[in-house]
Amino acid sequence: MFIESPRYTERFGSIRMNHVQRVVALDSGRKSELPLHGAMGVMKIEEETIKHFEDRMAIVIPVKDEKLKLIEGVISGVPHDCLVIVVSNSQIEKVDRFRMEGDALNQLCRFTLRQALIAHQKDPAIAEAAIEAGYNGLLGEDGLVRNGKSEAMIIGLLMAKASGKEYVGFIDADNYFPGAVLEYVRNYAAGFSLAQSSYSMVRILWLYKPKISGGVYFKKWGRVSETTNKHLNHLISSKIGFETEVVKTGNAGEHAMSMKLAEIVPYASGYAVEPQELISIFENFGGILSSRERKVMEQGVDIFQIETRNPHLHEEKGEEHLDEMLLSAMSTIYHSPLCGEEVKEATLTELVNRGILKEGEEPPLVHINAPLKEVDTKKFIKAIQDDFHRYQVLP
Ligand code: GDD
Repeated sequence: MFIESPRYTERFGSIRMNHVQRVVALDSGRKSELPLHGAMGVMKIEEETIKHFEDRMAIVIPVKDEKLKLIEGVISGVPHDCLVIVVSNSQIEKVDRFRMEGDALNQLCRFTLRQALIAHQKDPAIAEAAIEAGYNGLLGEDGLVRNGKSEAMIIGLLMAKASGKEYVGFIDADNYFPGAVLEYVRNYAAGFSLAQSSYSMVRILWLYKPKISGGVYFKKWGRVSETTNKHLNHLISSKIGFETEVVKTGNAGEHAMSMKLAEIVPYASGYAVEPQELISIFENFGGILSSRERKVMEQGVDIFQIETRNPHLHEEKGEEHLDEMLLSAMSTIYHSPLCGEEVKEATLTELVNRGILKEGEEPPLVHINAPLKEVDTKKFIKAIQDDFHRYQVLP
């Protein structure tokens, strides 16, 4: 693959946040060489390098009642060497959609001779393992894992850790193009290959997110992502005293982390998860608030934002859903200890102008799940490993 070099890097404390890098070409051939290595601001990521990282990566796919055809397509796009982990919160009663997902996954795995894991978010065995590990915050009042995409991501992370993976990437199940999924994972691998630190993150920016109404319009920014990015940049600018527009992937559902980083960030519930990850990294390693993670401060945290060649086409879930997502994102900014009065005011004005909050209301606090390092992951892994075969798609 040919990708733009990470030319502009903003440094906040020990964070190296890279401006967007575009994928220039999806393939770079076996023989091709770059003239004057990187002189054109373009780098070649060797196929070998991509495969090296794919082999060490798990891809977690959170699913909730998505069309089976979409899920199948997504799984078929994940590179063969990655471990696929599906964490489902789909309905079991009436129509057992979870079983249908398992059957589809089983068929794909048999045809292609690959292993995969599938678990249901409401599996009592997972809730018991969470209790063993002291991860009670992951559970709802019914004693089972809470609803939400973020909670599915955490189960996936724990399973990836139990499987010995060093990197974990997340990909939504409602993506229409398997080819785009393939590209996301290759971009994750490319990002990791550029990292200087073992604490690294890659966030995907879509080239376009087409809207279909009559004709196709290749829209670049969604309403939620544009607003989240604006306020995240405002938050950072207010702290460093220089205006920045570095954040372009505040809501990136498609993102990946080294396991070392994934273990130390907290996970806000539901759709607040992606902006909160960035905010937590800024809070903990941005050099403004004190950090207890000396090792991370020394090595630094590398964040890459990679713009795809493929457009992103996914299921549209309506206005109310977008409002819910925006409110969660704004809440993570509003309640951050980094957030001063001016930024708070701006987020409130945004939410009131959009009719999401009334004058005088505050965004509700979002539940935050503790980072994995604060729970006894060994106990969790031991508890699920005893019946790990139940989650394995192929015997
Ligand atoms: N297991 C599980 N449990 N999966 C869930 C749950 C849940 O409670 N809720 C949603 N999912 C799955 C969906 O099936 C889908 O695969 C994925 O999580 C994303 O959920 P969507 O509801 O489709 O979100 P979206 O497409 O509107 O938003 C996505 O993109 C945003 C950026 O534009 C999400 O990834 C957001 O988190 C992201 O900010």
